Amino acid sequence: MPKWHIASMDEYKSLHKRSIDDPEGFWSEIAKELHWFTPWTKVLDWNPPDAKWFVGGTTNACYNCVDRQVEADHGDETAILWEGEPIDADSGPEIRCLSYADLQHETSKFANALKVLGVKKGDIVTIYMGMVPELAIAMLACARIGAAHSIIFGGFSSQAIIDRVQDAKSKTIITCDGSWRRGSIVPLKANVDAACDQLEGTPEAVEHVVVVKRCENDITMYPRDEWYHDLVAEAPTDCPCEPMDAEDMLFLLYTSGSTGKPKGILHTTGGYMVYTYFTAKNVFNLIPDADPDQKQVYWCTADIGWVTGHSYIIYGLLPNRVPTLMYEGAPNHPGPDRFWDIVERHKVTQFYTAPTAIRAFMKWGDQHPKAHDLSSLKVLGTVGEPINPEAWMWYHRVIGGERCPIVDTWWQTETGGQMISPLPGCTPTKPGSCTLPLFGVDAAILDENGNEQPANTGGLLAIRKPWPGMLRGIYGDRQRFIDTYWSAFKVDDQQLQEGELSSPQRNCPSPYYLAGDSSRRDEDGYFWIMGRIDDVINVSGHRLGTMEVESALVAHESVVEAAVVGMPHEIKGTGIAAFVTLAPTHTPADKAATDALKQTLRAHVGNEIGAIAKPDMIRFTDALPKTRSGKIMRRLLRAVAAGETDTNQDTTTLEDFSVLAKLTESEGG
Ligand code: WTA
Repeated sequence: MPKWHIASMDEYKSLHKRSIDDPEGFWSEIAKELHWFTPWTKVLDWNPPDAKWFVGGTTNACYNCVDRQVEADHGDETAILWEGEPIDADSGPEIRCLSYADLQHETSKFANALKVLGVKKGDIVTIYMGMVPELAIAMLACARIGAAHSIIFGGFSSQAIIDRVQDAKSKTIITCDGSWRRGSIVPLKANVDAACDQLEGTPEAVEHVVVVKRCENDITMYPRDEWYHDLVAEAPTDCPCEPMDAEDMLFLLYTSGSTGKPKGILHTTGGYMVYTYFTAKNVFNLIPDADPDQKQVYWCTADIGWVTGHSYIIYGLLPNRVPTLMYEGAPNHPGPDRFWDIVERHKVTQFYTAPTAIRAFMKWGDQHPKAHDLSSLKVLGTVGEPINPEAWMWYHRVIGGERCPIVDTWWQTETGGQMISPLPGCTPTKPGSCTLPLFGVDAAILDENGNEQPANTGGLLAIRKPWPGMLRGIYGDRQRFIDTYWSAFKVDDQQLQEGELSSPQRNCPSPYYLAGDSSRRDEDGYFWIMGRIDDVINVSGHRLGTMEVESALVAHESVVEAAVVGMPHEIKGTGIAAFVTLAPTHTPADKAATDALKQTLRAHVGNEIGAIAKPDMIRFTDALPKTRSGKIMRRLLRAVAAGETDTNQDTTTLEDFSVLAKLTESEGG
């Protein structure tokens, strides 16, 4: 048994070269490791910006995650290992272990139940649940019958459910009564009720809500509601997997962009499945039949409501036949050592988390990880935002005991799977760099005209060739898909002069995928991600559009205008700063009223979007600094928010100088 799938840089380089020179030969070999009902006739059909992978092939993602393992006689092995948040003083945490055979049984029953509710191939089912095994079962049951899922993170508000259900025209929602989070219950069902009530009587009215009983909190059951346990109790156990065209939709996942409402990123079946399977295998070095004393247990701490959970808890993991651990709750419940307690209890070998979590662990202190045996760990991973070298070093030393390679994986909801990352046991790492492109990924740093930048020069991160896991579109918005990802930048002179470059004009069509991140490559070809170039901020590794937060703020009666920018934050990486102009009728009389209004506005944003979008700092201001053409000067606001009051920035185009002076004087909080 090899210790590492890719064991040397020579092997990486020759395989990478082959994957770029002959992508069709390369990916067809990988795809053959999975099950296809009918083989494809062509590997790639590339008509920029549209890629079709495994043309004419039919397959099923649930089959490859579940049934294929059962067919190969691995039905008894653990597929999903689940631990609940509450800890009972006598019996400890609740642990559930689902084998591939269990998953086959459960997904078949629930798939049949969905059919009874009228869900068919091609429908879009909304899922809004906590991290319980039924969430995995629900998504796989959808895949089983060829319905696409649209999973909404359980931390989002009912307004977020409304927006996504409307956009997807989804008629069925699967939810839970509640979910456990840091010892309290998140009222998921009540949020769904509020959304359904709003949609009632409109063309987007929801027809069925399926409810999993988890927290046993008080809920109201309406005529549209069904208990999950009642539905599956009556459902037959046999439900063959539907053969799906490789390019049939597997799921939609809504994510934030610079403008407007979140967009539904569309992923299809064949390419996504092959890509996540293969990246997971190599990046985490997944080996199903490892020696008995080295048995692998993989744990990704993300919520399935984000793409990381889709790709690297479920779809990329299960086909690799290594147990995937799902944890229900918070990292600090009941104490700040909960994660290390879990690693020790289940002898976790691969651990994948976000830099924001690592910074929180650092702050909570070394004593918590040190109180646990973490010697089972072999590979550590990070995702979601750039990791600062201090956090990287701490992760390596305190969690990895200086023996575990760290894979800093750069990718996006849109890319479906990891794109730039070290391979453990192979790629020499540099703290803070996601290192080199993975197989089939032709990544480059380009200037505004599409020319490759020399070493150590910042530019736009672009991918020059299609890859199997790439998004196939934005649901229902072809133009936005082209404008956002497939149009090169051309900087507008006027904007340049006005010092406002955050929303460049994109007006030359480009066959390259533009990620929306800026980056540089060093002299060794290593990538260093610098951050977003659009109005998207990355709060604790979660994407938010500044405009979404602004719209939420101006929806409040006291607010006339709002500008939201990112600001440095010790734990979150980027925090949210909001500059708000109030209606004269709502100007607070004193400090107490000011503080109260700030709290009200935070809560309001929490209701409109979700707790992750609550501003960390709100400043009330008489006016916002604007360019002559009326654009808010965000670059300036970013500097103010970062505390750089004495900016060297050119402010000569400021509409009103006194505005800047007032902003830098006014206290934050
Ligand atoms: C950022 C998460 C630096 C980046 C999988 C990207 C990263 C956005 C890294 C996508 C990394 C993700 N280093 N930045 N290793 N990973 N990002 O769609 O700005 O939630 O564009 O997907 O996160 O966020 P998303």
